[in-house]
Amino acid sequence: MVCLGNICRSPLAEGILKDKCKKKGLNWEIDSAGTGRWHVGSQPDKRSIEVAKNHGIDITDQSARSVNSNDYSYYDIIYAMDTMNLRDLKAWAVDANEEGKIRLILNEIDNFPTESVPDPYFNDNGFEAVFNMLDKACDAIIKKYG
Ligand code: 4NP
Repeated sequence: MVCLGNICRSPLAEGILKDKCKKKGLNWEIDSAGTGRWHVGSQPDKRSIEVAKNHGIDITDQSARSVNSNDYSYYDIIYAMDTMNLRDLKAWAVDANEEGKIRLILNEIDNFPTESVPDPYFNDNGFEAVFNMLDKACDAIIKKYG
């Protein structure tokens, strides 16, 4: 799960998908990272922690890191939260196999009207909407691969 800072959107995506896997008994390895480095080592944004908590999910154990070249070989699928993350991730892929692993997470939802999870960093009210779209996307991922 990849966004820009790895403190708002992708930690929620990681927490939500891990929670669903746990409930379904799926033994998937899920992690998140950022395309940027500003917040490396930080806990998720307190607004993401709060919205996750309101939905019964604890993401306080997460710590931000940046995407690295191993991620491309190690993981089967790399989900970008928005089109800017998608563009950056594709630019860093070394071959077609790596590039083929990269997807927009909202494209997993049939007929979803937008491509990008909006960046809620400067919008205190955006976190619940972000949670809900990621919840839907993670349901779709479980349905497809679970
Ligand atoms: P995220 O949100 O990519 O969902 O973690 C952001 C967090 C920090 C910044 C931008 C977006 N920032 O500019 O520091």
